[in-house]
Amino acid sequence: MKHIAIFASGTGSNAQKILAHFQRSQEVQVGLIVSNKPQAGVLKFANEYSVPILLLEKERFLKGDGYVPELQAAGIDWIILAGFLWKIPATLIKHWEKRIINIHPALLPNYGGKGMYGQAVHLAVLAASEKETGITIHYVDEHYDHGATIFQATCPVLSSDTPESLANRIHALEHLHYPLVIEKEILSPSV
Ligand code: GAR
Repeated sequence: MKHIAIFASGTGSNAQKILAHFQRSQEVQVGLIVSNKPQAGVLKFANEYSVPILLLEKERFLKGDGYVPELQAAGIDWIILAGFLWKIPATLIKHWEKRIINIHPALLPNYGGKGMYGQAVHLAVLAASEKETGITIHYVDEHYDHGATIFQATCPVLSSDTPESLANRIHALEHLHYPLVIEKEILSPSV
């Protein structure tokens, strides 16, 4: 059995889909929900699925031990980012090398980098009058939105789109693909 930790800062709709997908899996189990926000919607799903919660304090996460002891104690094999706001510290990248996956709501390398999170991404895509956008699932390295791409899927941008309507289309794409891509990657890693 492989154990994953889901890191999320917000609503947690992707986390919910991942929890539901692996609920009865014999091969992958969600061992921990990790968040930097005590108020994050994702914590409700952790309770719903009876998964332990780890709340992060900024200084210790970014400049201290990165909560490696807690993650190791929970037997975490893979780290899955699902709308997580903070940069992943080098110590985590070292301990879980090529075992940290992120989802980004655009077609990287476009519309990535520091500050490119959620609505900010969709606003930038609309401002540039793009005809197409999509999602990128990729490995995490020490740079924002930078590691090897595992999977991309596209969707149209309509002239009538608002950041909200685009976010909804992107979320649907994420929910459809992220749990399956995670499962495939954990069972047979591509890097
Ligand atoms: C998702 O759209 C995810 O791609 C994005 O945050 C959203 C979280 O939604 N991540 C980033 O922008 C990373 N740079 P959720 O909390 O409903 O899963």
